[in-house]
Amino acid sequence: MTNNAEQAAEPTSSPRNAEQMIALLRDVFERRGADSYLGEDVTMSQHMLQSAALAAAAGLDDAVVAGALLHDIGHYINDFPESLGATQDRRHQLSGAAILDGWFPQRTVACVRGHVGAKRYLCAIEDGYLHALSDASIESLALQGGPMSPSECDEFAQSEHLEAMLSVRRFDDAGKDPKLQVPTFSAYMPMLEHLVRTQLESPTAATRT
Ligand SMILES: [Fe+2]
Repeated sequence: MTNNAEQAAEPTSSPRNAEQMIALLRDVFERRGADSYLGEDVTMSQHMLQSAALAAAAGLDDAVVAGALLHDIGHYINDFPESLGATQDRRHQLSGAAILDGWFPQRTVACVRGHVGAKRYLCAIEDGYLHALSDASIESLALQGGPMSPSECDEFAQSEHLEAMLSVRRFDDAGKDPKLQVPTFSAYMPMLEHLVRTQLESPTAATRT
């Protein structure tokens, strides 16, 4: 696929436009994508690319596909400049949202921020969900606070992008197949660049100078 995004400049530590931001994300996928995914049988890039492919195959809109693609980017907070997130190591869903906030639509940011909460929510409200999780995901659930309490569920259910967050969670859970072949990061670059350009042109976009 030929496009401007593929010709983006080398990644910079201080992205100032859409091309540079996408180049930074691509660089993280390339350098860190071979990391193992937290005890699963897939690498980090396989996991996030599979999550995105499943979202796209399900017909979800681009903002949600981007959320699926980038939902675990917060594990790499130290690969991003301080201006894109906290300097301290935070919970990866919050770090990921901080990296993307202002660059991507709020729907994308919400999917990233909410994917752990969505797991805790589904564990609480859906019979069989918890027991269908992978061993690693069940293990991390305890560290993440366990299933939500009824009051937490009530609050989470009011989330503006609830359905999108739950969808990304399900793709997150399913994107762990070591045999599944899916498109590479490059395939998403035009879509990502379009989302970022649109967001940066939005009157509600955060200031990035
Ligand atoms: Fe994940």
